[in-house]
Amino acid sequence: MIPLALNIELQQRVAAAVTHREAALDVLKELQRHYGWLTDQAVKEAADILELSPLQVEELATFYEMIFRRPVGQQVIHVCDSISCWSTGGESLLKQFEKLLGIQVGDTTADGVFTLLPCSCLGNCGNAPAVMVGERQFGPLLPQGVAALLDELRESHQHTDHNETVR
Ligand code: FES
Repeated sequence: MIPLALNIELQQRVAAAVTHREAALDVLKELQRHYGWLTDQAVKEAADILELSPLQVEELATFYEMIFRRPVGQQVIHVCDSISCWSTGGESLLKQFEKLLGIQVGDTTADGVFTLLPCSCLGNCGNAPAVMVGERQFGPLLPQGVAALLDELRESHQHTDHNETVR
């Protein structure tokens, strides 16, 4: 269950929106941030906050690629597979991620840190092939740059973890 303060804040955001659906993505993202993914409980809570049916929330959740209806790693790596990225080597980039992470696309590493997913255009075609991790965009990223990027992501993850531990 989400904290009361978050529930109230989300209700206020929904009340300020022109339509409840307009605020839906915002609400889903916040619930996902809280739970790590959009759990069944989160779908019910979103439905209550948005005054929609759970089925309507489910439809919205499955429409957005950045909303996850199953558990994901702490960092989700989205590799764009739309035309500009595909034509500039996106496929080899994805294979390099699979190789270095030791997982197949769609999977999560055993330590729960990374999930690897394909995605449609990130709106960063000028920097193809492009990748998004959380809110950060990277590109053009070549297969030979993947190891360094993973090191950087691991390091920033450990740093965040440490900060959360010492807080
Ligand atoms: S096609 Fe990959 S960012 Fe647009």
